[in-house]
Amino acid sequence: MRSSGRPPIIVLDGPAGAGKSTVAREVAKRMCLPFLDTGAIYRAITHVMLSKNIPPSDSPELRAALGEFTVSFRDGRVFACGGDVTEVIRTPMIERNVSPYSALPALRESLLGIQRAERSRGLVAEGRDMGTVVFPDADVKIFLTASPGERAARRHAERLARGEESNYDDILEQVKARDEMDANRAAAPLKRAEDAVTLDSTGLSFEEVVSCVMEEVARVLTPES
Ligand code: DC
Repeated sequence: MRSSGRPPIIVLDGPAGAGKSTVAREVAKRMCLPFLDTGAIYRAITHVMLSKNIPPSDSPELRAALGEFTVSFRDGRVFACGGDVTEVIRTPMIERNVSPYSALPALRESLLGIQRAERSRGLVAEGRDMGTVVFPDADVKIFLTASPGERAARRHAERLARGEESNYDDILEQVKARDEMDANRAAAPLKRAEDAVTLDSTGLSFEEVVSCVMEEVARVLTPES
Protein backbone atom coordinates (compact mmCIF):
# COMPACT_ATOMS: atom_id res chain seq x y z
CA MET A 1 0.00 0.00 0.00
CA ARG A 2 1.17 3.46 -0.92
CA SER A 3 2.00 5.80 1.92
CA SER A 4 3.06 9.14 0.39
CA GLY A 5 0.85 11.84 -1.11
CA ARG A 6 3.13 12.64 -4.08
CA PRO A 7 2.02 12.01 -7.69
CA PRO A 8 2.46 8.32 -8.55
CA ILE A 9 5.40 6.74 -10.33
CA ILE A 10 4.34 3.72 -12.38
CA VAL A 11 7.01 1.68 -14.16
CA LEU A 12 6.95 -1.07 -16.74
CA ASP A 13 10.08 -3.07 -17.47
CA GLY A 14 10.57 -6.02 -19.76
CA PRO A 15 12.24 -7.37 -22.88
CA ALA A 16 12.13 -5.87 -26.39
CA GLY A 17 8.75 -6.07 -28.08
CA ALA A 18 6.69 -7.05 -25.02
CA GLY A 19 4.36 -4.11 -25.75
CA LYS A 20 5.68 -1.87 -22.98
CA SER A 21 5.56 1.37 -24.98
CA THR A 22 2.00 1.06 -26.23
CA VAL A 23 0.70 -0.20 -22.90
CA ALA A 24 2.60 2.40 -20.84
CA ARG A 25 1.45 5.19 -23.17
CA GLU A 26 -2.18 4.16 -22.72
CA VAL A 27 -1.83 3.83 -18.94
CA ALA A 28 -0.26 7.31 -18.84
CA LYS A 29 -3.19 8.70 -20.84
CA ARG A 30 -5.77 7.10 -18.53
CA MET A 31 -3.91 8.31 -15.44
CA CYS A 32 -3.29 11.83 -16.90
CA LEU A 33 0.42 11.38 -16.20
CA PRO A 34 3.44 12.14 -18.42
CA PHE A 35 4.84 9.16 -20.32
CA LEU A 36 8.59 8.48 -20.32
CA ASP A 37 9.87 6.23 -23.14
CA THR A 38 13.41 5.46 -21.98
CA GLY A 39 14.05 3.10 -24.91
CA ALA A 40 13.67 6.18 -27.14
CA ILE A 41 16.32 7.97 -25.03
CA TYR A 42 18.80 5.07 -25.46
CA ARG A 43 17.99 4.95 -29.17
CA ALA A 44 18.47 8.73 -29.50
CA ILE A 45 21.85 8.68 -27.79
CA THR A 46 22.91 5.75 -30.01
CA HIS A 47 22.00 7.82 -33.07
CA VAL A 48 24.02 10.79 -31.79
CA MET A 49 27.08 8.59 -31.10
CA LEU A 50 26.89 6.91 -34.51
CA SER A 51 26.55 10.25 -36.28
CA LYS A 52 29.67 11.49 -34.47
CA ASN A 53 31.53 8.24 -35.26
CA ILE A 54 32.09 7.54 -31.56
CA PRO A 55 32.39 3.77 -30.91
CA PRO A 56 30.61 2.04 -28.00
CA SER A 57 33.48 2.11 -25.51
CA ASP A 58 34.33 4.48 -22.69
CA SER A 59 36.50 7.30 -24.09
CA PRO A 60 37.01 11.06 -23.66
CA GLU A 61 35.05 11.60 -26.91
CA LEU A 62 32.14 9.54 -25.60
CA ARG A 63 32.12 11.41 -22.29
CA ALA A 64 32.22 14.78 -24.05
CA ALA A 65 29.26 13.78 -26.25
CA LEU A 66 27.36 12.56 -23.16
CA GLY A 67 27.94 15.95 -21.51
CA GLU A 68 26.36 17.71 -24.48
CA PHE A 69 23.48 15.28 -25.01
CA THR A 70 19.94 16.61 -24.68
CA VAL A 71 16.67 14.87 -25.43
CA SER A 72 13.09 16.10 -25.37
CA PHE A 73 9.64 14.85 -26.33
CA ARG A 74 7.09 17.16 -27.97
CA ASP A 75 3.79 16.34 -29.67
CA GLY A 76 4.70 12.68 -30.00
CA ARG A 77 8.09 13.47 -31.56
CA VAL A 78 11.59 12.88 -30.19
CA PHE A 79 14.33 15.51 -30.41
CA ALA A 80 18.01 14.82 -29.64
CA CYS A 81 20.49 17.69 -29.43
CA GLY A 82 17.85 19.85 -31.14
CA GLY A 83 17.21 17.58 -34.17
CA ASP A 84 14.08 15.54 -34.85
CA VAL A 85 15.10 11.86 -34.55
CA THR A 86 11.61 10.32 -34.34
CA GLU A 87 11.95 8.15 -37.44
CA VAL A 88 15.67 7.45 -37.51
CA ILE A 89 15.71 5.92 -34.02
CA ARG A 90 13.37 3.12 -35.23
CA THR A 91 15.62 2.01 -38.10
CA PRO A 92 17.51 -1.34 -38.23
CA MET A 93 20.79 0.63 -37.97
CA ILE A 94 19.81 1.77 -34.47
CA GLU A 95 18.30 -1.63 -33.55
CA ARG A 96 21.67 -3.23 -34.33
CA ASN A 97 23.73 -0.72 -32.37
CA VAL A 98 21.69 0.27 -29.34
CA SER A 99 22.63 -2.65 -27.07
CA PRO A 100 26.43 -2.10 -27.08
CA TYR A 101 25.96 1.60 -26.20
CA SER A 102 23.33 0.75 -23.56
CA ALA A 103 25.82 -1.58 -21.90
CA LEU A 104 28.24 1.25 -21.06
CA PRO A 105 28.08 2.25 -17.36
CA ALA A 106 29.22 5.84 -18.13
CA LEU A 107 26.41 6.25 -20.63
CA ARG A 108 23.75 4.79 -18.31
CA GLU A 109 24.99 6.96 -15.44
CA SER A 110 24.73 10.13 -17.52
CA LEU A 111 21.12 9.33 -18.46
CA LEU A 112 19.95 8.90 -14.86
CA GLY A 113 19.42 12.63 -14.28
CA ILE A 114 17.60 13.05 -17.60
CA GLN A 115 15.24 10.18 -16.77
CA ARG A 116 14.54 11.41 -13.25
CA ALA A 117 14.23 15.11 -14.11
CA GLU A 118 10.42 15.19 -14.25
CA ARG A 119 9.67 12.70 -11.51
CA SER A 120 8.06 15.20 -9.13
CA ARG A 121 5.02 15.50 -11.46
CA GLY A 122 4.54 11.72 -11.38
CA LEU A 123 4.97 9.61 -14.52
CA VAL A 124 4.55 6.31 -16.29
CA ALA A 125 7.98 5.10 -17.41
CA GLU A 126 8.98 2.10 -19.49
CA GLY A 127 12.37 0.50 -20.01
CA ARG A 128 14.64 -2.23 -18.68
CA ASP A 129 15.82 -0.92 -15.31
CA MET A 130 13.04 1.42 -14.22
CA GLY A 131 12.03 -0.64 -11.18
CA THR A 132 15.54 -1.74 -10.26
CA VAL A 133 17.77 1.32 -10.83
CA VAL A 134 16.07 4.50 -12.03
CA PHE A 135 12.92 4.49 -9.87
CA PRO A 136 13.49 1.80 -7.21
CA ASP A 137 10.87 3.53 -5.04
CA ALA A 138 8.16 3.46 -7.76
CA ASP A 139 4.61 2.96 -6.49
CA VAL A 140 3.67 0.37 -9.13
CA LYS A 141 6.18 -1.95 -10.78
CA ILE A 142 5.14 -4.21 -13.63
CA PHE A 143 7.43 -6.66 -15.42
CA LEU A 144 5.79 -7.14 -18.80
CA THR A 145 6.90 -10.12 -20.82
CA ALA A 146 5.77 -12.30 -23.77
CA SER A 147 7.25 -15.22 -25.69
CA PRO A 148 10.04 -14.32 -28.19
CA GLY A 149 7.84 -15.51 -31.08
CA GLU A 150 4.97 -13.25 -30.07
CA ARG A 151 7.29 -10.26 -29.55
CA ALA A 152 8.89 -10.75 -32.96
CA ALA A 153 5.46 -11.07 -34.59
CA ARG A 154 4.40 -7.73 -33.05
CA ARG A 155 7.55 -5.92 -34.26
CA HIS A 156 7.06 -7.46 -37.70
CA ALA A 157 3.44 -6.23 -37.86
CA GLU A 158 4.47 -2.73 -36.66
CA ARG A 159 7.07 -2.44 -39.43
CA LEU A 160 4.70 -3.63 -42.11
CA ALA A 161 2.11 -1.14 -40.84
CA ARG A 162 4.68 1.65 -41.25
CA GLY A 163 5.19 0.52 -44.85
CA GLU A 164 8.71 -0.77 -44.14
CA GLU A 165 10.28 -3.97 -45.39
CA SER A 166 10.26 -6.68 -42.78
CA ASN A 167 11.29 -10.30 -42.37
CA TYR A 168 9.87 -12.24 -39.42
CA ASP A 169 12.81 -14.64 -39.07
CA ASP A 170 15.35 -11.80 -39.04
CA ILE A 171 13.33 -9.98 -36.40
CA LEU A 172 13.08 -13.11 -34.25
CA GLU A 173 16.86 -13.45 -34.39
CA GLN A 174 17.29 -9.76 -33.46
CA VAL A 175 14.82 -10.06 -30.57
CA LYS A 176 16.70 -13.06 -29.16
CA ALA A 177 20.11 -11.41 -29.63
CA ARG A 178 18.95 -8.22 -27.95
CA ASP A 179 17.40 -10.16 -25.04
CA GLU A 180 20.69 -11.95 -24.58
CA MET A 181 22.73 -8.73 -24.54
CA ASP A 182 20.26 -6.76 -22.41
CA ALA A 183 20.00 -9.55 -19.83
CA ASN A 184 23.69 -10.35 -19.60
CA ARG A 185 25.35 -6.94 -19.55
CA ALA A 186 27.08 -6.00 -16.31
CA ALA A 187 25.47 -2.54 -15.97
CA ALA A 188 21.78 -2.54 -15.02
CA PRO A 189 20.84 -5.75 -16.85
CA LEU A 190 17.24 -6.47 -17.76
CA LYS A 191 16.01 -7.99 -14.52
CA ARG A 192 12.67 -8.18 -12.76
CA ALA A 193 12.59 -6.05 -9.60
CA GLU A 194 11.87 -8.26 -6.60
CA ASP A 195 8.76 -6.25 -5.82
CA ALA A 196 7.46 -6.14 -9.42
CA VAL A 197 4.31 -7.88 -10.58
CA THR A 198 4.99 -10.10 -13.61
CA LEU A 199 2.50 -9.89 -16.44
CA ASP A 200 2.89 -12.33 -19.37
CA SER A 201 1.05 -10.81 -22.31
CA THR A 202 1.38 -13.86 -24.62
CA GLY A 203 -2.06 -14.44 -26.10
CA LEU A 204 -3.59 -11.37 -24.42
CA SER A 205 -5.05 -8.46 -26.38
CA PHE A 206 -3.80 -4.92 -25.89
CA GLU A 207 -7.00 -4.07 -23.97
CA GLU A 208 -6.56 -7.07 -21.68
CA VAL A 209 -2.97 -6.10 -20.86
CA VAL A 210 -3.94 -2.49 -20.16
CA SER A 211 -6.79 -3.69 -17.91
CA CYS A 212 -4.41 -5.91 -15.92
CA VAL A 213 -2.02 -2.99 -15.40
CA MET A 214 -4.85 -0.62 -14.44
CA GLU A 215 -6.12 -3.19 -11.90
CA GLU A 216 -2.69 -3.29 -10.29
CA VAL A 217 -2.51 0.53 -10.30
CA ALA A 218 -5.93 0.74 -8.65
CA ARG A 219 -4.98 -1.91 -6.09
CA VAL A 220 -1.87 0.00 -5.03
CA LEU A 221 -3.15 3.57 -5.28
CA THR A 222 -6.64 3.20 -3.80
CA PRO A 223 -6.55 4.08 -0.12
CA GLU A 224 -7.72 1.37 2.27
CA SER A 225 -11.06 2.22 3.85
O1 DC B 1 12.49 -0.54 -25.59
P1 DC B 1 13.35 -0.30 -26.81
O2 DC B 1 13.37 -1.45 -27.77
O3 DC B 1 13.02 0.98 -27.50
O4 DC B 1 14.85 -0.13 -26.24
C1 DC B 1 15.96 0.02 -27.06
C2 DC B 1 17.22 -0.47 -26.36
O5 DC B 1 17.56 0.43 -25.32
C3 DC B 1 17.18 -1.85 -25.73
O6 DC B 1 17.83 -2.80 -26.54
C4 DC B 1 17.91 -1.74 -24.44
C5 DC B 1 18.07 -0.27 -24.20
N1 DC B 1 17.38 0.20 -23.01
C6 DC B 1 18.07 0.10 -21.82
O7 DC B 1 19.17 -0.43 -21.78
N2 DC B 1 17.50 0.59 -20.68
C7 DC B 1 16.28 1.16 -20.71
N3 DC B 1 15.76 1.66 -19.59
C8 DC B 1 15.57 1.26 -21.94
C9 DC B 1 16.15 0.74 -23.07
